[in-house]
Amino acid sequence: MGSEEFSRRKFAQTLAATAAAALVAPRLARAAGAGAMLPDGMPESTIQLNSNENPYGPCPAALAAIQSSEAIACRYPDGAHKKMTEAIARLHGIAPENVALGCGSTQILDLCDFAFLAPDKKLVVAEPTFEAVLSYSKNLHARAVKVPLTADFRHDLGKMAAASDATTGMVYVCNPNNPTGTILYKNELESFLPRVPKGTVVLVDEAYFHFVEDSRYVSVASWIGRYPNLLVTRTFSKVYGMAGMRLGYAVGQKELIAPLRERISFASANSAVLAAGIASMKDPDVVPRNRRLLNNTRHGLVREMEKDGRKVIPSEANFVMIYLGRDVEPVVKAFRARGILVGRKFPSMSEWLRISIGKPEEMDAFVAALREIVPVHA
Ligand SMILES: Cc1ncc(COP(=O)(O)O)c(C=O)c1O
Repeated sequence: MGSEEFSRRKFAQTLAATAAAALVAPRLARAAGAGAMLPDGMPESTIQLNSNENPYGPCPAALAAIQSSEAIACRYPDGAHKKMTEAIARLHGIAPENVALGCGSTQILDLCDFAFLAPDKKLVVAEPTFEAVLSYSKNLHARAVKVPLTADFRHDLGKMAAASDATTGMVYVCNPNNPTGTILYKNELESFLPRVPKGTVVLVDEAYFHFVEDSRYVSVASWIGRYPNLLVTRTFSKVYGMAGMRLGYAVGQKELIAPLRERISFASANSAVLAAGIASMKDPDVVPRNRRLLNNTRHGLVREMEKDGRKVIPSEANFVMIYLGRDVEPVVKAFRARGILVGRKFPSMSEWLRISIGKPEEMDAFVAALREIVPVHA
């Protein structure tokens, strides 16, 4: 088995040694370079499997570009902003006016709320889903309609379409969905989009698009010409490993992009992140490499969970939900006490733990700790 793969041998060693995860975690996390961005009181050695980040970080070309961006740090980033916008436009085969750059895609989600919601313009979302659009919508006093997921933990597009009427400002579709990692299929989106009123914006969040392996999936970024009410967001935080640097974008028709751009403060993306983003997009290996590394590790984790007889939601992203059969809140705390951060509780899925995919040795530590905290035959 290659070193990239989730190592079964490592599991065996970890278990045979019966090393307490509390002792294992610090050593492994130091090797993984866990940084200073930790909750108060958590040591440097903490293993971070809580925010769907990419532990491999920016590619070498991006790191080199960050270093050399020192030379342009005293200049405003207009030129780099334009270059990045053009690179994204080329990638999607659209015009630069169809692209808005944000300080992370979260900024774009916030701007979408501002642009398309109001007290009399409601938001339709799945429950549970990524919560940024929901939390920003509260500032606008917009009503949110939460449509529960289907029995197989996917968006209920039929009910979401039915909930969308003339008073709906925006429908948010997260594909793959956070926290479940589930996807919507091409044919499902094809029948959903025409059912949404033309005056309602459909925002499809494709933050985890690069990880998807299922051939029934499609990115709808190529459909913006067909649907004037469609906006698609992407991010450099996940497959590109740049969560701390904050870069994301939206693509859509000019009429939807323009109100977002109007609210973006002058060049919200900084010189260093733009240089890194441009370098990453030029590196043909970064996406396939990180996708392979993280997907292989996820497949390995799923195999271990299934070996234990635990239920796992089929995921197409760099995280997965595991059924624990008990409230996850105390479990999250127990992991934290062992130096491992795992996903928080999602109230509508209170017995499911979301775990982000880290490096193989981090997953070894996670599995060993899980087997202690929630023994299989408990
Ligand atoms: C579905 C989804 N969209 C957007 C984001 C935020 O991405 P960014 O770092 O670009 O703000 C996340 C972060 O976890 C996410 O899960």
